[in-house]
Amino acid sequence: MPLVFTNISEVYTPMQRITGAALAVKDSRVAWLGSGPNLPDLYRSWPQQDIGNRAVLPGLVDSHTHLVWAGSRVDEYRRRAKGSSYEEILSSGGGIYNTVTATQKASEDELYELARERAKIFLRGGVTTLELKSGYGLEAEHELKMLKVIRRLKETLPQRFVPTLLAHVIPHNWSRQSYLEMFSTELIPEVKRLGLAEAVDVFCDQGAFSLAETKRIFETALEHGLKIKVHAEQLKHSGASKLVAEMGGLSADHLEQSTLDDWQALAKSGTVGTALPGATVILKKPFPKLRAMWDAGVKVAVATDHNPGSSPLYSMFLAMQLAIALGGLSAEEALIAGSKHSAEALAKSDLGTLKPGAKADFIVIEGTDAMLPLYGWGYQPIHAVYIGGNKISAST
Ligand code: NIG
Ligand code: FE
Repeated sequence: MPLVFTNISEVYTPMQRITGAALAVKDSRVAWLGSGPNLPDLYRSWPQQDIGNRAVLPGLVDSHTHLVWAGSRVDEYRRRAKGSSYEEILSSGGGIYNTVTATQKASEDELYELARERAKIFLRGGVTTLELKSGYGLEAEHELKMLKVIRRLKETLPQRFVPTLLAHVIPHNWSRQSYLEMFSTELIPEVKRLGLAEAVDVFCDQGAFSLAETKRIFETALEHGLKIKVHAEQLKHSGASKLVAEMGGLSADHLEQSTLDDWQALAKSGTVGTALPGATVILKKPFPKLRAMWDAGVKVAVATDHNPGSSPLYSMFLAMQLAIALGGLSAEEALIAGSKHSAEALAKSDLGTLKPGAKADFIVIEGTDAMLPLYGWGYQPIHAVYIGGNKISAST
């Protein structure tokens, strides 16, 4: 049913701020958005809903998460807090491998329940779209199991979920060459055949895949019509951000060790540069130079990288706050990074932005100032979340 939301104190589209706004929605998409008094006659006869002089923001888009996982890494967290490094733990067979063992053991139903509870927390934090990666299964059977969990989340929950196949690490019982062969010649074609992922991501870094291996996986993904993205320049500089830019990829994520040369390549190709402030801060890495990246013309996005190891972060607003405090973005830019740009990192130009034709995914702030959730740390003044123009109950 068409509906006009009235009495909006202010809205960030996020490219523009409009005060005293009204928003018309039809068929789950934005029909019109502007200053209330300018509402065209056509929409005045539509049913109205008073937002109560509250502010509105686009639904947040978390373009990088590893939400499907089992087990616990609390012990690793404790060890790292005492000084052990993430790299040491990973190379001694812990870290990601720890989650792999637990995720392989878990059934599809168990993984679904775990991920569903996490998705609800993100919903309460204003996240209406999440990208979800596989990558803790490693063996084809378990990677497919993870992707089926994501498909089930998509079918049963109100949020929008975008699935990605992740080449994470080489399993201990495989040679590099045979795993790479299996991943490229069996797993990617099967994932494509079943329609279980939109993109392929590679963890190109120390302890994971090399640049040449990453290139091979990307070539196969592109041959199968899948999009590509990469975990790049996190622990060591590998050149993967430049590679993904040159191959027309969607995004290069992490970027702690990235350089001006990398940013110029990303800017040139329009590949999104995604900061993952949770992982940066928790692993005590240098914060990516977001101000310089933005000024070099990179489309900067922010995401949580939610995962049980390097970023047990459940809040997009906190990720954006860190991008402001440590990356030098303005509050307005952080908002763009967490909505419009992160949607572009998923090739979803009709998400993360409130413009005619885009999906009517938005959050109503408890207050007249839209910046309240960015201003208050650990404070979540969210009155309601709408997806496709429908109010989503917090208990969903
Ligand atoms: O994005 N960098 C690789 N993968 C994840 C970490 C996964 C884990 O530690 O379990 C990341 O940071
Ligand atoms: Fe990640």
